[in-house]
Amino acid sequence: MRFLGSYFSNDLAIDLGTANTLIWMRGRGIVLNEPSVVAIRQEGGPNGKKIIQNVGLAAKQMLGRTPHNITAIRPMKDGVIADFTVTEQMLKQFIRKAHNSRLFSPSPRIVICVPCGSTQVERRAIREAANEAGARRVELIEEPMAAAMGAGLPVEEPTGSLVVDIGGGTTEVGVISLGGMVYRGAVRVGGDKFDEAIINYIRRNYGMLIGETTAEEIKKEIGSAFPGSEVKEREVKGRNLAEGIPRSFTISSNEILEALTEPLNAIVGAVKTALEQTPPELGADIVEKGMVLTGGGALLRDIDRLLLEETGLPVIVAEDPLTCVVRGSGKALERMDEFGNIFTTD
Ligand SMILES: Nc1ncnc2c1ncn2[C@@H]1O[C@H](COP(=O)(O)OP(=O)(O)OP(=O)(O)O)[C@@H](O)[C@H]1O
Ligand SMILES: [Mg+2]
Repeated sequence: MRFLGSYFSNDLAIDLGTANTLIWMRGRGIVLNEPSVVAIRQEGGPNGKKIIQNVGLAAKQMLGRTPHNITAIRPMKDGVIADFTVTEQMLKQFIRKAHNSRLFSPSPRIVICVPCGSTQVERRAIREAANEAGARRVELIEEPMAAAMGAGLPVEEPTGSLVVDIGGGTTEVGVISLGGMVYRGAVRVGGDKFDEAIINYIRRNYGMLIGETTAEEIKKEIGSAFPGSEVKEREVKGRNLAEGIPRSFTISSNEILEALTEPLNAIVGAVKTALEQTPPELGADIVEKGMVLTGGGALLRDIDRLLLEETGLPVIVAEDPLTCVVRGSGKALERMDEFGNIFTTD
């Protein structure tokens, strides 16, 4: 009976990220992977009804391109919920979409991951959103724990594992041993801060205004975290601030590297703090095995090189870093009964 129960259940693991939301379903794997963006249409003037027009990819494509009565927003900021109502609506729509082709879609068990720097109030808000979206039972798991499990680290063993998850809103550092987090640290710096730094650099040095989407493209194409690799160039289109008209110019990877200095330093700082605060026995394990990078920021060119140079420790980029957290949350869900202590009780 128990086997049948779990076979037919629609239990979900959710990575509700600042940049991307991923949903994993028991027995099926990742069933949804979309940007955490919502497009809202305002009806009948500024005090009228707000109607959700689109969520996910369709909404992201509207960012910075909407007519006056539609706004595309990201309801999560810095790793936490900035707009509760919209986040809840978005989560509900994503869950509905994930259940799409299923015959039964009763309220499932949901494991949902939270940033380790989030407050009790923020955690309660996330729990509530999942309950509102129809969850029968909600377990929370801290993001670095989920990331470590997704990256295949031996979290239950008596050995120290260091994981650094560089997301859109936050970078979270965790040291894990015996199924628990021995150290947790977070800075509100991630991919969004990289994009912002690129926008500011281009405004300062070129007098040009570019949008968030363009900044993100530049980062992915020619961004890097450490000098020495081949220099790349890219043409950029933006609005000249003095003339007010669109123009294009060329920017190099060295300039982007310079633009990213500050947020990169913040990430290096967070990793160094973790190393200083790790108990010596576990520190010895980490010296030997190094650290594992997860999250979309792990894909920034040469970020592993930067951390190697700064700490002297081996650095490994996890396989498919963007999906580690949701795959890890899925593993935790599958082993919920034997593995109770990895969930947070706050
Ligand atoms: N190839 C790449 N190079 C650099 N950055 C990248 C690359 N691919 C994705 N990113 C960045 O990774 C970030 C998204 O990562 P991820 O999906 O792990 O974040 P998230 O889980 O939504 O955020 P958080 O964990 O902070 O809530 C975005 O800022 C995106 O621009
Ligand atoms: Mg994340």
